[in-house]
Order: sequence, then structure tokens, then C-alpha cells
Amino acid sequence: MLTREHAVALDAADPLAHWRDEFVISDQALVYLDGSSLGMMPRRTVARLQHVMQEEWANGLIRSWVHWLDLSQRVGDRLATLIGARPGEVVVHDSTTINLYQLVDAACALRPDRRVIAIDPADFPTDRYVVDGIASARGLQVRDDFDRLDDVAVMVRSVVDYRTAAVTDVAGETARAEAAGAIALWDLSHAAGVLAIDLTAAGVQLAVGCTYKYLNGGPGSPAFSFVAGDLQLTLPQPIWGWFAQTDQFEMGGTFAPQPDIRRVLLGTPSILALAAAEEGIAIAIDAGIDSIESKARAITGFALELCDELGLASSTPRHPAGRGGHVAVQHPSARRLVDELAERNVIADFRTPDIVRVGCSPLTTRFTDVFDGLTALHALVHPSKGCSTSPGSGVW
Ligand SMILES: Cc1ncc(COP(=O)(O)O)c(C=O)c1O
Repeated sequence: MLTREHAVALDAADPLAHWRDEFVISDQALVYLDGSSLGMMPRRTVARLQHVMQEEWANGLIRSWVHWLDLSQRVGDRLATLIGARPGEVVVHDSTTINLYQLVDAACALRPDRRVIAIDPADFPTDRYVVDGIASARGLQVRDDFDRLDDVAVMVRSVVDYRTAAVTDVAGETARAEAAGAIALWDLSHAAGVLAIDLTAAGVQLAVGCTYKYLNGGPGSPAFSFVAGDLQLTLPQPIWGWFAQTDQFEMGGTFAPQPDIRRVLLGTPSILALAAAEEGIAIAIDAGIDSIESKARAITGFALELCDELGLASSTPRHPAGRGGHVAVQHPSARRLVDELAERNVIADFRTPDIVRVGCSPLTTRFTDVFDGLTALHALVHPSKGCSTSPGSGVW
């Protein structure tokens, strides 16, 4: 039987435990199991934003653009180290939705003879809406499975399923798409900063993802675009903005995009948001993505073991390498349960139709948080069983 003492011992042995002190945590009693939606705020972000606001904005004013202008690329190069990309293959800018739109549309333009975009109907809504919108505008067909790819222009997929946390075989599926003449485009939103992704080894050409989950970049922090080096010169990106323009400040009359990753940039980025994203990314780099992934596997494994003991159903894969950083607990009253957990100072996510999503963010989530959260959930699901299941209790 797993006890709270077991969780305490796991926290004591956790080599990443001290990273939690690097975050601003105003309520130590809060059981926060939602870093898979919004990561906590790093202390260094507060200091960085104060610096950007006072020194760079208030004092430097327009002069600061000298070192702000390439910030999307500099932050992209740092993020590249977390996802197995090479320098010059990632830029941090705009939102996942916008970046996805650009790259899906560009991929369609690269395969003008193909009439199909493939996407899982259970994938994240914005991905499906973007695909539907592009298909409608281009007169293409949307296919809701990946069985047949020989007539597919682009296959849009998430590395980690936002509901179940199931991980897709990125290298295998990218190779299968390539062999069929299709382009694979990956959404890394639930993978970046929690799994040691290697886009180069997997042969990926196009990817996007957000920075506000496991990368702790802050609410609405800018997303990223990854374009493999060999595709950058010819990528037919649909949005022609001046931040992609060669000799940007010549204000030329004709769009002539940069011959590198900058060609996917659009307009003026939010420097405050980019600076915050950089600090979140830096903290993951400093902690080490391999260690982060190891803890993700251990803590989600602990959560699953606990679910089994508590009789909570989960659709999250059992194999450690087969899941991301969250655990899906299934219950028909999931929506109500998430609300009731919040009343008990336990924050998790509801995902339709029946999932309580328990986010385990390796730098901030403790094994004791998982224990307290799941035992609180168990107490709500089985109030009659009489377990001493409130957060902080000794055993469930
Ligand atoms: C897989 C996936 N894609 C995209 C998004 C959101 O896109 P955006 O950052 O543009 O709101 C999310 C948000 O949770 C997501 O999980």
C-alpha cells in the first residue's frame, strides 16, 4: 500500500526537488496539479521582467531594439537544445495557433498535387480548427485517420495527447509519412520541456509548440516554430510580415524573406512575453531535460500506481516511455470533481468528456502533491469508504 510517507520519501530522494524553490509559490498548501496547462512563475522571471521594464524599456526606450530585434531567434536557439533542433531552426514568436496555421498552409503549398490533410479528430481543438479552415480555403479534404498517407499533403499530429498523455512514435510516423510523400507536422505543446524530444534524430521537418506549460513561460507566452534547415530557403509561408523581411528597415516595396528561420516571423513581438519565455526555457535547460524526463516518468508512474490502489480509472499509458507529463483519471462526473477539488485547494484540469487531468510538472510538482491530490479525488469519488484521504493525511 502506498502511504503518504512513501511520497515524502520519494520527494526527499528527488534530485530535482530543490528546483521548486526557484518558483514563486505564494500558497504552500496549494496542491497544484495543473502545470500541464499553466506552469508556475519562476523567480528569475520576476527579476528579468523588472530589468526589462526599468532598464530596457523605461531607460533604453527605442534604443533597446538593438538587442530586442533578434530576441525571437536567440530564445529559439536556447529552446532548440531542449527539442533536439539545431541552432537557427527555431524561433519563438506569436501563438501556437498562428504558427500552426503558417506551417500547415506552407506544407500544403509544398505538396500542390495532394488534396488531403490528415488529423486525429481527438486532437486539440485549435489544431483541428486550423486544419479545417485551411482545408476549406484551399478546397482540400480532411481525413481523420493516418492509415493511408499516399495522397496526403500534410499529417498534423501532437507528440503527446492532451487528454490521455499517450506519446506518438515521432520518428516512426515521420518516416512513414515521408515514405508516402507526405509532410509530418508535429505539435509539441504537451511535450516541450517535459520530454527529451530529438527532432533532428526523428527526421522532423516542421513543428510548433507552446511555452506556457512545462516551459513555465507565463500566460499567453509566445509559441515556437521549428523548420528544418534544408526547408527554410523554400518554405512558402503564407503570412508575409515585415519581421521576415531582408533589410527590414529599408522599408522596401517588395517582400523578400530572409533565407533562414526568420522567414516565418511576422510582426513586432511582445518583448516582455519573450523575456519571460526565455527565463522559463532557461530554467529547464539548467535543470536538464533528461533529468526532467526521468522525473516525469517516475511521478506519473507513481500517480498511476496510486490510481490503481485507489480504484481510479486511467487511460494514460502504463509504459513509462509511452506517456507525457500528466495522468488522465476518468470519471463520468469529472467536471464536478475538478470543481470540488478546487474547493479543497487542489487544482487539476477537466477535459471533456470525462477526464480529471493531473499535471505533473517535474520542476514544481511533488510526489506528495500527487498523493494529496489523488487521495482527495478518491475521497470525493468514494465518500463512504472512510479512508482518511484529505490532503496532508497520513494514509489514504
Ligand atoms: C496541443 C495543443 N496545441 C495548441 C494549444 C493552444 O494553442 P494556443 O497557444 O495558440 O492557444 C494547446 C493548448 O493547450 C495544446 O494543448
